[in-house]
Amino acid sequence: MKYKNPIFVAIDTSDLDQALALAKEVRSLVGGFKVGLEFFSSNGAEGLKKVIELGIPVFLDLKFHDIPNTVSKAVGEVVDLGVSIINVHASGGKAMMEAAVKSSKNKTHSPPLMAAVTVLTSLDENDLVTVGQNTPVVSQVERLSLLAKSCGLDGVVCSANEITHLRKVCGNDFFLIVPGIRPRWASSGDQKRVMTPEEAFTLGADILVIGRPITGSERPALAAERIVKELNIRQ
Ligand code: C5P
Repeated sequence: MKYKNPIFVAIDTSDLDQALALAKEVRSLVGGFKVGLEFFSSNGAEGLKKVIELGIPVFLDLKFHDIPNTVSKAVGEVVDLGVSIINVHASGGKAMMEAAVKSSKNKTHSPPLMAAVTVLTSLDENDLVTVGQNTPVVSQVERLSLLAKSCGLDGVVCSANEITHLRKVCGNDFFLIVPGIRPRWASSGDQKRVMTPEEAFTLGADILVIGRPITGSERPALAAERIVKELNIRQ
């Protein structure tokens, strides 16, 4: 299933009221919300349910990574909450990913899309060496993406500069979720390798995770609307 509107707004705050106010302001303009560790650590399942109740898809970005039994139980819990996309670290291995997929399908809720995190974009080749991996980042991303695909995952979270390669290697049905997106008119902040929404979408991204260009704007709805127009998508 593809999302007609690929914009998922990253709600990176621990403040529930602020998160809900923002989400309400932009919900009719975007395809979904992404909430992560900061929001979840502060507001837990109860806070998450309030975001889900707003009625648009929610990507719960908790990047599970543990033994298969623990991950499969955690996946079962969040599927019950009604999230639409979840993710696990592909480096957790085959058994962990297969357990996660199986558990996500064992529920009364329709299973969420399951994405893998390959190599965190905060890590470079030197960082990989320090943890005992002497593989170029691109090879490791490819290896883990193919492993995730073979375990039945639906896609990966990747950087915009990996889109073309991963499309070729993993095919058209593999979901590519892409953060590090910056419209030309927005500041890049701490993101180093950015791409505009149109560029990433044209290259084949399925979901564009966009935070501060929308959430940091004085008028979040206007910023979201501007990106929708630039992407030329029909609401
Ligand atoms: O504000 P900004 O658009 O940079 O937010 C991007 C979101 O995507 C944040 O929630 C960030 O944690 C997340 N993310 C990222 N780069 C990755 C993986 C996730 O920016 N490689």
